[in-house]
Amino acid sequence: MPLFMPMTSMKPLSFLLLIKLLFLGLSVAPFIAGDEHQFSFSGFSNTNLTLDGAASVTPNGLLMLTNGSALSMGHAFYPSPLHFHNLSDGTVQTFCISFVFAIVPTYKDLSSNGLTMFIAPSKNLPAAMPIQFLGLLNDQNNGNETNHIFAIELDTFQNLEFEDINDNHIGIDINSLYSIKSHNAGFYHDESGTFQSLGLDSQEAMQVWVDYHREKTQIDATMAPLGMVKPTRPTVSANYNLSSVLTDVAYIGFSSAQGKINTKHYVLGWSFGMNSPAPAINLTILPTLPSDPHTKYRHRLWLLEIILPLATAALILSVAAVVSLLVRRHFRYAELRDDWEVEFGPHRFSYKDLFHATEGFDDKNLLGAGGFGRVYRGELPRSKLRMAVKRVSHDSKQGMKEFIAEIVSTGRLQNPNLVHLLGYCRRQGELLLVYEYMPKGSLDKYLYGEVNNSTLSWDQRFWIIRGIASALIYLHEEWEKVVVHRDIKASNVLLDDELNARLGDFGLARQYDHGVEQETTRVVGTIGYLAPELARTAKGTPLTDVFAFGVFILEVTCGQRPIMQSTQDELVMLVDWVLEHVQQGSLEDAIDVRLKGHYNVGEAYLALKLGLLCSHPFVCARPSMRQVIQYLDGHIEPPELPAHQSFQALALMQNEGFDPYIMSYPSSTNVGTISSISGGR
Ligand SMILES: Nc1ncnc2c1ncn2[C@@H]1O[C@H](COP(=O)(O)OP(=O)(O)O)[C@@H](O)[C@H]1O
Ligand SMILES: *[C@@H]1O[C@H](CO)[C@@H](O)[C@H](O)[C@H]1NC(C)=O
Ligand SMILES: *[C@@H]1O[C@H](CO)[C@@H](O)[C@H](O)[C@H]1NC(C)=O
Ligand SMILES: *[C@@H]1O[C@H](CO)[C@@H](O)[C@H](O)[C@H]1NC(C)=O
Ligand SMILES: *[C@@H]1O[C@H](CO)[C@@H](O)[C@H](O)[C@H]1NC(C)=O
Ligand SMILES: *[C@@H]1O[C@H](CO)[C@@H](O)[C@H](O)[C@H]1NC(C)=O
Ligand SMILES: *[C@@H]1O[C@H](CO)[C@@H](O)[C@H](O)[C@H]1NC(C)=O
Repeated sequence: MPLFMPMTSMKPLSFLLLIKLLFLGLSVAPFIAGDEHQFSFSGFSNTNLTLDGAASVTPNGLLMLTNGSALSMGHAFYPSPLHFHNLSDGTVQTFCISFVFAIVPTYKDLSSNGLTMFIAPSKNLPAAMPIQFLGLLNDQNNGNETNHIFAIELDTFQNLEFEDINDNHIGIDINSLYSIKSHNAGFYHDESGTFQSLGLDSQEAMQVWVDYHREKTQIDATMAPLGMVKPTRPTVSANYNLSSVLTDVAYIGFSSAQGKINTKHYVLGWSFGMNSPAPAINLTILPTLPSDPHTKYRHRLWLLEIILPLATAALILSVAAVVSLLVRRHFRYAELRDDWEVEFGPHRFSYKDLFHATEGFDDKNLLGAGGFGRVYRGELPRSKLRMAVKRVSHDSKQGMKEFIAEIVSTGRLQNPNLVHLLGYCRRQGELLLVYEYMPKGSLDKYLYGEVNNSTLSWDQRFWIIRGIASALIYLHEEWEKVVVHRDIKASNVLLDDELNARLGDFGLARQYDHGVEQETTRVVGTIGYLAPELARTAKGTPLTDVFAFGVFILEVTCGQRPIMQSTQDELVMLVDWVLEHVQQGSLEDAIDVRLKGHYNVGEAYLALKLGLLCSHPFVCARPSMRQVIQYLDGHIEPPELPAHQSFQALALMQNEGFDPYIMSYPSSTNVGTISSISGGR
């Protein structure tokens, strides 16, 4: 129900009071008085706005210009025409407009296009277009002076076509969507003078004041958050004589347009004053934005459009993670198993157990690395069985069965001076051998001082030599088959808790015999311990073991590596060095200085003599292990050493093309080999 009442501009407050008293609860209060025209709407219930397009007034009084439909647009006009011209001189009079609007996109800060408050000669905007034309103009008439349109645009889209400054601006438009002046949406603080920007599509209601001053021909547009007193400094202002733009009779209204992004444009309140300030909009009775139902809807939407995909993605991800975990687990612990292995069943360890026992083959459990692979300390979680796990890489399937059969058969070897094989595990490309754990480690560390204050006494050394001899006689003679160790050396001798010598690594050397064709002459063993005839035959025999054992005896007795650095920086064979001492009659100088003279002279000389005898270049000159044991135990006197033995032998060997100093061995000779030359271990 519109109200038309006389009003004097002198007493607007008392008049308002009267309205309030008379029409309490009414949200509509349009005024028309003489040539000073005014109106004010705080909400649009029961008003007579002219609407078109998607525009409608919601039941609670919101003017909704666009309803969220794609490419929709809508207009709302104050129903009556207004006279803008001064009757006496025809200039456009001073007018003031204020309105409260809100742009509510479905997703905050993502909206399309915008709205305008405009003055036009007619309520029919011919062929106004949506989207960037904001429902105001079209591509034909944009910029044409015959439009007679003045507008304030609140634009949430940057149209480069119209040289928009950004996607959140307020602009002053004359006949065109090219704004004559525009500014980032926001306001200037009265006190500080600083600019505070406002998000047009922040879903918040905001107030705008538009003032035209007749004498100054100045247009000011001011923005502020709802509830704030109008800032003194306008957000944007321009000098423009609207007299040449606006027709005398014109309509005032709103237009808005939406693109593809679901956005609703609302006007909550509106007031106008010709030749007077715009009446205040009663903010307390403004209709509320559909925040509650809309938010609920948005929540549901949010649930559907965000939570659901997220949840689905999370589900897929977690399923994928579980699957990949299972697959990785599967590969991580994957093993190779063949039917023929069933007979070795009891000796088979699961890779998973070994993996956990060694804490995933952690470096902190690394005991050492030898020629065949790395050795890790491990402990089975349940039985607390301590073990040493050697990872041997292999790539040949060929001979694998024989090799494992042999490895496993060595598991049946029972001698107190052997490191027992507890079992094995086979995987793609590698074999894991599980040995008894020897807490004291390998002998070489004691001999060459890697373990502090660990010089072994003579008795301990002799006991170690005796132990290895007894291990070898077991392998060579006492077991059902002849087992050639092929890699006797200090680093393969491990010490148990009582410092008993335990020979390790037996059987391994044979792997390469089986895995590789017999005709390829691969020398297996470690340089310095290799019998000269191996260069020719490449075939390990018990007597090549004896040769290596001879070098080992000298190593233990002299505390020197099999190939040593002489004072002239030359490499000297330990055998030759000892022999020289024998010939010079200075045997005591050959014995390890670390013993500081504390040794059994008879035993030490015997050891040196035996060492030389065993490492004799001529195969037939070497004793068997059974004889060695008898010499060691003192049952038989060893034979005298032949004079100039080594010099003759060396000459002979060099004639045959075997130069012990030029170590050109095939690739199977191992890391231990090289490091024992450089003495780096
Ligand atoms: N059963 C074991 N118990 C404790 N330590 C071991 C055991 N087997 C090997 N090791 C350690 O691992 C190192 C490397 O072993 P290995 O591969 O046999 O060396 P190499 O190839 O030089 O003979 C050894 O020097 C030793 O310190
Ligand atoms: C609204 O205005 C139109 C003309 O613009 C008029 O015909 C109509 O009667 C008015 N309605 C009310 C309720 O004032
Ligand atoms: C929005 O308005 C347009 C134009 O009046 C109409 O076709 C459409 O159905 C409306 N959409 C909704 C969701 O109300
Ligand atoms: C109309 O114009 C005349 C002459 O310029 C001026 O004196 C008068 O104040 C104007 N009226 C209004 C309402 O601005
Ligand atoms: C402006 O519009 C008028 C009327 O529609 C038309 O006659 C005129 O050609 C237009 N001018 C331009 C520059 O488009
Ligand atoms: C504005 O334009 C009108 C006519 O176009 C003119 O009469 C008036 O003087 C102008 N106002 C100013 C301040 O220049
Ligand atoms: C706004 O409306 C409310 C409710 O009708 C009223 O109590 C209040 O006084 C009004 N405020 C102004 C400034 O008119």
